[in-house]
Amino acid sequence: MTDYKRLLDEAREARKYSYSPFSHFSVGAALLAEDGKIFRGCNLESAVFSPSLCAERVALAKALSEGVTGFTAIAIVGAENGEEPTNPCFPCGVCRQVLSEHVNLSGFEVVVEKDGRPEIHLLSELLPSAFVFEK
Ligand code: THU
Repeated sequence: MTDYKRLLDEAREARKYSYSPFSHFSVGAALLAEDGKIFRGCNLESAVFSPSLCAERVALAKALSEGVTGFTAIAIVGAENGEEPTNPCFPCGVCRQVLSEHVNLSGFEVVVEKDGRPEIHLLSELLPSAFVFEK
């Protein structure tokens, strides 16, 4: 069974390394692979803005670039720099799409934190009618 609280704690840990001097909003993510490995990511911004990376895609890129491909869940926490997250931090539309291309859409879980407790959503619920590239 997935330890959602542990996954949120991993995301909280990842958030410590956020580089977000422009938005002043730091995000941490923890991506759980089928084999139990956890890949952490934080948002990394750039002074020219467009190369900025969301925490979720940093975690995903770390896993994929190490040959890991099966995933079951991702936990995300986010808040203003220096503040403790209070509201749930949902993945942006771009991250929802990119995640959808690497997971089993109907089973993959997105874990956010609400009132100090894990709240679980299916990616399929957050991204209905995902774009699928068909040649
Ligand atoms: N951000 C993430 O890392 N993940 C999300 O799901 C939402 C937004 C980052 C991007 C940017 O560095 C900052 O949060 C403010 O948008």
